[in-house]
Amino acid sequence: MKRVPHCHILEMLRAQKKPHISFHTPGHKRAGADITELPYSDNLLSPHGVIARAEEDIARIAGAERAFLLTDGSTAGVRAMLLALREAGISRVAYPVFAHKSVKDGCYLLGLEGVEIPAPRTPYPRQPSLAAIEAGLNEAGALLLTSPDYYGNFPPLREAAALCKEQHKPLVLDGAHGAHLYGTPLYAGNFAQMWVDGAHKSLPAMTQGAAVFAGDAFWAEKLSSAVVRCRTTSPSYPILASVEYAYKYPRRQELERAAAALKEALGAEDNADWTKIVVPFGSECRRAEAFLQRHGVYPEFNDGNFLMFYLSPATKGRELALLRRLIKGLPRGELSFPEERAGVPAGRVRPVPLKEAVGRVCAAECGLFPPCVPLILRGERITAGAAARLAAAANTFGLDGGKILVFEEDA
Ligand SMILES: Cc1ncc(COP(=O)(O)O)c(C=O)c1O
Repeated sequence: MKRVPHCHILEMLRAQKKPHISFHTPGHKRAGADITELPYSDNLLSPHGVIARAEEDIARIAGAERAFLLTDGSTAGVRAMLLALREAGISRVAYPVFAHKSVKDGCYLLGLEGVEIPAPRTPYPRQPSLAAIEAGLNEAGALLLTSPDYYGNFPPLREAAALCKEQHKPLVLDGAHGAHLYGTPLYAGNFAQMWVDGAHKSLPAMTQGAAVFAGDAFWAEKLSSAVVRCRTTSPSYPILASVEYAYKYPRRQELERAAAALKEALGAEDNADWTKIVVPFGSECRRAEAFLQRHGVYPEFNDGNFLMFYLSPATKGRELALLRRLIKGLPRGELSFPEERAGVPAGRVRPVPLKEAVGRVCAAECGLFPPCVPLILRGERITAGAAARLAAAANTFGLDGGKILVFEEDA
């Protein structure tokens, strides 16, 4: 394994002098990596020391004009990018119907109007077509796409970027699942004016570690003032250090090749992202998941049709070999296909237990967590299959006490 190059924040934390008697936050009062802003530790809100050096290095690695470290996940980056758009005078943003919750919540919080771009679901959320993207962009001042998505698929990046350029509108990419792609042709930074990388998902960074980027001076200025309004004022130093470390962690091409071979051997989805192995188990999903857990193997999620295995450069080759051995002979079941949207009725809504919701029209989108993209959209008729998947899931969003919101006239 190649050595990780110099990490400014980590070195600063390692060089701390002892004794260190804390009359400052955090309240645990232990010297160590979890410190606050001290004379030697710089300040994320106005960096001029080790954090500034780390951000410069990460911008260089990612090919960006500016990089901003985040300790509050890609969610903070999505919000900062949306705020930057608003500060640039944009009030309508087009995004795919299966965009992550953070995009929809961000628009809601900032009073931005969302233009939903329809996308197929066969049987999991897909990227919208170029024609649908163009129709959405025609109605909006900016385009926000997810690249790649949780299932390892990419939107038509080159064509979408060309459309945006033609219409003089910015392209923003939610790369919550694409931090590992820097330096490759599919990296968000090759196409977008602003993008966020969820370093904690696909690089060896701590949970919530992320970075948001601007590709040119105009958006760097907008994003710079937006990001300070969206981040915590108490950033975690271990997370900051881990993000810098993650971008300097060496790429492992032999692992990437092994992942591609494993996908083929397992009959996984033929996606373009080596870090996401999406295996169709259909109705056998729960049994397969339980079997793997008995062997100490935990997938990222079970969406009721697919088990998704999330890799990163820190995945070990022997773990891929074990996965192959365990999965190879497991039975596969039928996939279930959700119904298409029935149109959005108006009227009063009320929550009903999942069992009673089958056949009714959903009034607020909800789904499994993860992946936190909607399983049932507002206006969609709730099928027995979708209700069963929600009922069986360990974690969901959009439900309240196990109840789902439906339109009353339909109830
Ligand atoms: C596509 C997408 N965007 C944004 C986010 C938000 O990222 P975070 O959880 O790091 O805030 C997620 C999280 O799963 C995601 O899947």
